[in-house]
Order: sequence, then C-alpha cells, then structure tokens
Amino acid sequence: MNAMIVKALVMAGVLIVATFVVIKQMHIDLSDPINMITFIGAIAIAVLTFGVSAKYMQQMKSDSATGELAEDNWDGIGEYKNELPSGWAWSYVGTLIWAIWYFLMGYPLNAYSQIGEWNKETKTYNTKFEKKWKDATKEDLVNMGESIFLVQCAPCHGNSGDGLDGKAHDLTHRISKAQVLHVIKNGSHYFKYPMGAMPAGLAQGKDAEDVAAYVAGGLKGKAPTAWATCAGCHGQDGKGNNGQAPNLAQIDDTLIAQVLTHGKQGSIGRMPSFANRFTEVQDKALAEYIKTLSSAK
Ligand code: HEC
Ligand code: HEC
Repeated sequence: MNAMIVKALVMAGVLIVATFVVIKQMHIDLSDPINMITFIGAIAIAVLTFGVSAKYMQQMKSDSATGELAEDNWDGIGEYKNELPSGWAWSYVGTLIWAIWYFLMGYPLNAYSQIGEWNKETKTYNTKFEKKWKDATKEDLVNMGESIFLVQCAPCHGNSGDGLDGKAHDLTHRISKAQVLHVIKNGSHYFKYPMGAMPAGLAQGKDAEDVAAYVAGGLKGKAPTAWATCAGCHGQDGKGNNGQAPNLAQIDDTLIAQVLTHGKQGSIGRMPSFANRFTEVQDKALAEYIKTLSSAK
C-alpha cells in the first residue's frame, strides 16, 4: 500500500482511539443506539477525511492538467478556465432552494415557539374561563373583582381601595375636592368620552372652590351658580348625560372601562392603562367590586 495512505490511516486510527478514550472518560454509554450511531459517524468522518486528503495529496504529486489558462496569474500560479463543476453548481442551487424553504416553512417560523404556546394556552384558558363565568352571579363577580383588585390595583389604591393615604385615588368615594380643582385647572383629556376633552380653566377662584366642594360632596344640596357651566356637559344631575361625559355623581361602569383602557394622569401621578389585560368577565368583575367600595361609604 502507498506510504501516504498508510500514514493517513494511522492518523485516522489515532483520532478514533482518542475518541474512544474520551467516551470512556465521560462514561458515555455505547449501548444507547444514538451514542453508538454518533460514534460510528465519528469513525467514518476520521477515516474519510484522512483517506480523501491522502488520495488527493498523492494525486497532486503526479497529476498534470490540460486546458486553456486564464490570463491572470499570481507569482506564476495560474488558473484554468474550467466550466463550473456540475456537482458544485447543483449543490449551490439546491442549497438556495433549501434555504428559502427553511426560512419560510422550515424551522424558525413554523416550529415550536414558547410565546406561541403561551398565547395559545392563554387563549384556550380564557375562552374556557369566559364560558364558565358567562352567567356569573353578582356575588361571584364581586369576589372575582376583589381578587383581581388585590393583585393589580391594591399596590396603588390600597387593599381597601382607600388610596394609601391619598397616594392614589381613593375609590371609596367618587372624587375629592383637590382632584376636582386639579381637573378644573388643568382640564381633562385622558379618556375617550364622546364629548371629547374638557378644556382647562372653566371656573376660577371662589366659583371653582364652590363647584369642587359641591362635586366632592356628592352633588348634594343646592348647586352653586357656577355649576351651570359644568351641567352643560355633565348633566344637571352630574351623571354625565348618558355617558357623553364622565358621571361625577358616582364611579360607574363607563368610567371604570375608560380608566382601565386609557389610564389616567391624575393630580397625584399616573395610572397605567390596563387595556387588553383582562377578559370581559374580569372587567365586569372589577367594575362590580369597585362599585361596592363606594357604596360602602
Ligand atoms: C365642554 C364640556 C364640559 C364642561 C363644560 C365641563 N366638563 Fe368636566 N369633563 C368633560 C369631559 C368630556 C371629561 C372627560 C375628558 C377626558 O378626560 O377625556 C370631563 C372630566 C371631568 C372630570 C374628571 C372626571 C374623572 O373622574 O377623572 C371632572 C372632575 C370634571 N370634568 C368636572 C367638571 C366641573 C366641575 C366642571 C364645571 C366647572 C366641568 N367638568 C365642566 C366635559 C366637560
Ligand atoms: C400605578 C398605580 C395605579 C395602579 C396599579 C392602578 N391605579 Fe387606578 N389610579 C391611579 C392614579 C394615579 C389615579 C388618578 C388619581 C387622580 O385622578 O388624581 C387613579 C384613578 C383611578 C380611578 C378613578 C378615575 C377617575 O378619574 O375618577 C379608578 C376607577 C381606578 N383608578 C381604578 C383602578 C383599577 C380598577 C385598577 C386595577 C386594575 C387600578 N386603578 C390600578 C393609580 C393606579
């Protein structure tokens, strides 16, 4: 046998023995078919690499080629003008087609995705949840609302909804005088009531004070003169003209839906939007629960 081939096979043998030593050292179990196949693959790669290299190195020693030389040459080393080897060309085209398939239909886009699975599971669960609680009683809703509230809202509004010493809006009554004054001074444009935004500065000085006290007091007793300005939009009874503007008399479903969807920049800070965070039943449950907070007073 040719000396070069012998050397190559010796090299391959060394690699195979080394692989085997590593297998023993790492206590890899060769009775496992996957490990065995991998091991046989490693032997095949070692033999082929050295065998094929030896063959070509041998061939280079004696081979001569004919054909038309390209014009360029580099330090005397020239290049033949050969056709693209067809095997190479076909592999190139094949790889391109495969890459396009892989990108559009193969692994990355259509395969398993943790986020996809999470979304799918959440959707299935939510559908089941919505179905189960479709006809929930008021008591169920209030209980459900309370548990959502304790997790999502209590960090700002307090466990009992009373606003953590005024750090966020006290939900046990409709609105405080300071908050009404803040809105009168700054206007309001956080919600999407059909009436649009409320302009700033609709009342000044004593008028503003009077009207703020009247609203904060639950619109009881004789309305101050300046209330006429407000009544144009909020209604004479302050209930918001059937949802055209916020109901100032009590926290109602419309207001809760508005504040959950759009959040609010209040006098004491920002409430984030909770849009798409809850299912329909959960929204209803939150509203029912919050209404119990204010009716408790
Ligand atoms: C032009 C119509 C209009 C007038 C007049 C008006 N409001 Fe408003 N008000 C609105 C609208 C609309 C909103 C909700 C705007 C938004 O945030 O998108 C609002 C919001 C409010 C809010 C905030 C409600 C909340 O829960 O955050 C308060 C308080 C308020 N108005 C009080 C008053 C008072 C007091 C007056 C009289 C001085 C008054 N408004 C006059 C239309 C009006
Ligand atoms: C990051 C703190 C924070 C969280 C969390 C939070 N809020 Fe608020 N909330 C606020 C602030 C700030 C205001 C505005 C107070 C003001 O008008 O001055 C507010 C106002 C409100 C209002 C009154 C809106 C009005 O204009 O009258 C309601 C109702 C409300 N929140 C409900 C909720 C519910 C329900 C949750 C839970 C899903 C919640 N909030 C979670 C901070 C928060």
